[in-house]
Amino acid sequence: MEQTLTIRPGKGCVGEVSVPGDKSVSHRALMLGALAEGTTEITNFLRGADCLSTMDCFRKMGVSISDEGQVIRVFGKGLHGLSAPASTLDVGNSGTTTRLISGILAGQPFESTLNGDASIQKRPMGRVIEPLSQMGANIRSVKENGCAPLAISPCGLPGGRLKAIRYRTPVASAQVKSAILFAGMYGDGPVSVTEPAPTRNHTELMLAQFGAQIACQGTTATVWPEPALTAQKIRVPGDISSAAYFIGAGLIVPNSRILIKNVGINPTRDGILQAAQMMGGKITIENRDTSSAEATADLLVESSSLKAVTIGGSMIPSLIDELPMIAVMACFAKGTTIIRDAAELKVKESNRIDTVVTNLKAMGAHIEATSDGMIIHGGAPLHGAVIESYLDHRVAMSFAVAALAAEGPTQICNAGCVDISYPDFYRTLLGLCR
Ligand code: S3P
Repeated sequence: MEQTLTIRPGKGCVGEVSVPGDKSVSHRALMLGALAEGTTEITNFLRGADCLSTMDCFRKMGVSISDEGQVIRVFGKGLHGLSAPASTLDVGNSGTTTRLISGILAGQPFESTLNGDASIQKRPMGRVIEPLSQMGANIRSVKENGCAPLAISPCGLPGGRLKAIRYRTPVASAQVKSAILFAGMYGDGPVSVTEPAPTRNHTELMLAQFGAQIACQGTTATVWPEPALTAQKIRVPGDISSAAYFIGAGLIVPNSRILIKNVGINPTRDGILQAAQMMGGKITIENRDTSSAEATADLLVESSSLKAVTIGGSMIPSLIDELPMIAVMACFAKGTTIIRDAAELKVKESNRIDTVVTNLKAMGAHIEATSDGMIIHGGAPLHGAVIESYLDHRVAMSFAVAALAAEGPTQICNAGCVDISYPDFYRTLLGLCR
């Protein structure tokens, strides 16, 4: 696609959308499918660049994966069936691929190297290196800077088994938790992880679905080793993180009414709904379907007069990826919005405190960066500007929505990075606009 995209103000966003499959769930379905016995069938899989990176990594480890029509089929190799990759595993831009796969690789009897793009080579991997090393894994940052490339070799412990640990994560990160739980399947006893605040629990839910023995109590998850994982049929729910842009557009673009179909509403992910409702946003949750582990619903969003909120504490992990969109929404809310306890924003695909604040300032917002979030004085109208995506998909998408609600045209530079999680994003969003 064109790398620079011009977006003009919208007079209203009206219609129905189905957002693509959830990125977190798609990654995990491929990974557990690869380690299960039998053929896992995945529908509504997200064909975004990040999940395709995961697919490519497993193909390089001898897993056959077919992608025909609506269904992805993963021909599982079993827990001990992966083979040594002939070359470096390329994780692209994907932090989820890097951290989750490193947990799996830590338990393998072969050597592997993980590497990705310039952004991934700056993201902190010490958070997985530390607990995996405590388990006896041989994992190191090749440049000794705590980042990728990561080199992983067999642990060399009796029976090739990793040591069972009980680990308290200093950061609330589902990626770290998942890496440890995956490594725990190759442990010599039960492995548990305790987090400082609850994070998305897709790994726990899916491990249970594939037949692993897993227990969750409060913010502690425990997995038992050597599970017999059995292939499953996984229907991936629509990604609430992708729905967030239509929630934002529906609320802040005047005269809007958007029905977003089949959105995952897992309570560990639904912070955007809570925040939007606290801001006075009109969101009606319809057609709840709780028949599978990952609940879904349709969301009807209508233009609303928003008011400021304070967002922080244990709510942050439930909306961490939606904070760029929430910051844009806060510009249209009456009063001062405070986002705090969100220093994790600095280590995402871009430093999202800096990139969001810089771009919103360019559009005329009254906003200040803080050490762990931002303060946004709402109500100043935004004007069109030249926006840089910083190759961060969530920044590009949030500012496409901001552009619709601003005065005058906005240019988004390096707009194509939305391919990471939502290849069809602009066509879908602009297709709703009047
Ligand atoms: C993810 C966890 C979150 C999130 C990321 C996806 C996952 O990252 O920001 O987009 O699928 O586990 P952290 O675990 O680093 O918080």
